Amino acid sequence: MTKTITGAVIEKVNDPFKLEKIQVDDQPKAHEVLVHIVASGICHTDQAVRDGSAGAYAYPGIVGHEGAGIVEKIGDYVTTVHVGDHVVLSYDYDGTCKNCLRGHPSSCINWAKLNTAGTRPDGSFAFSKDDGTNVSNFFNQSSFTTETLVQDRNVTVVGKDVDLRKVGPLGCGFITGSGTVFNGLNPKEGSTIAIVGTGAVGSGALMAAKIKGCEKIICVDIHDNRLAQAKELGATDTINSADEDWVAKVKELTNGQGVDYAIDTTGVAPVMHQAVDALASGGHLAPIAVTTKELSFQTWNELTAFQKHVDGVLMGDAIPQLAITTLINFWKAGKFPFDKLEKFYDFDQINEANDASLDGSVIKPVMIMDKDYKPGE
Ligand SMILES: NC(=O)c1ccc[n+]([C@@H]2O[C@H](COP(=O)([O-])OP(=O)(O)OC[C@H]3O[C@@H](n4cnc5c(N)ncnc54)[C@H](O)[C@@H]3O)[C@@H](O)[C@H]2O)c1
Ligand SMILES: [Zn+2]
Ligand SMILES: [Zn+2]
Repeated sequence: MTKTITGAVIEKVNDPFKLEKIQVDDQPKAHEVLVHIVASGICHTDQAVRDGSAGAYAYPGIVGHEGAGIVEKIGDYVTTVHVGDHVVLSYDYDGTCKNCLRGHPSSCINWAKLNTAGTRPDGSFAFSKDDGTNVSNFFNQSSFTTETLVQDRNVTVVGKDVDLRKVGPLGCGFITGSGTVFNGLNPKEGSTIAIVGTGAVGSGALMAAKIKGCEKIICVDIHDNRLAQAKELGATDTINSADEDWVAKVKELTNGQGVDYAIDTTGVAPVMHQAVDALASGGHLAPIAVTTKELSFQTWNELTAFQKHVDGVLMGDAIPQLAITTLINFWKAGKFPFDKLEKFYDFDQINEANDASLDGSVIKPVMIMDKDYKPGE
């Protein structure tokens, strides 16, 4: 049995998002959960799938991986979530491989198969068009829909007091940025960090660096409005790299030494290289943008001779069910005010919302799929 929903389809690479009537399988399999979507953030990675820079993807497809909503139906083996629960959606993992068992599900050996292959774990499609064409999913989630079919491990239950219009972006942009600090780099209190690119991911990292007690949090971007926002969130210094040599400025701010930690969220090849230069001896760089660009350096002269480190960190190395809950608690305590960065749009304004992220004017666009939803009910 299928059910008709609305989904924002990418027909082929570089096409705009187009709202279409789509069929979703409405009989959840053993570990599946059917979720009524209230709202979804747009992450730069959705754009990276649209423009092809995320690598191979089986179009047509429906992306979106920052959904929040209400559980409608569950499969027979689902025990962690019930009909009517309010949920935030994040990535999928198998929970059984050695990396999952060691507490690092973002290194799940089946991560790519479960999140970017476009199908459910058994290889079948969740979505189709009326003419029978299969439509790929994304993150086993596809939150750019009015209703979607996910796996139980995609789901984190949140309290009914939590405003579902706001919390979807905790499922990717904000756990990625904060987790890169909390788990990937784990800076000691009193250390220095440079965050290059202060979009949603960079801002999540900034708020986490403040919670961790970093002494200097230096934010770099090419948009003054984003840097002003970073200052409000607790950046100790900001640098507009369109106007000045940011590496020289970082050195000046750190007694000529460079920073202990750096995060690149730009994916711009020369900027990633500059981020290696900006590190102090023994420093760590996490270049976490989704890009096909390369980072190249002399392994001896630029890395090993100074014992620098370059670390890939996926989804903040975070366990969604723990991290989302923690971030909501930090938010309630006033320490993680991510909602200041959000701007709300109607679902049919999806291309406008995506453009507002690309031109730098909005840090986190969020689309409301269910305009009748009222928080607290
Ligand atoms: N590693 C992961 O698991 C993971 C997860 C989510 C997102 N991402 C990726 O992280 C990146 C950031 O995502 P986002 O949603 O914050 O995107 P975003 O576009 O909002 O942020 C990127 C920021 O970089 C800035 N920037 C661009 N060029 C620059 C330059 N030359 N110098 C300085 N700043 C520059 C932009 O102005 C912007 O503020 C994207 O590539 C996204 O796909 C990675
Ligand atoms: Zn696994
Ligand atoms: Zn994302």
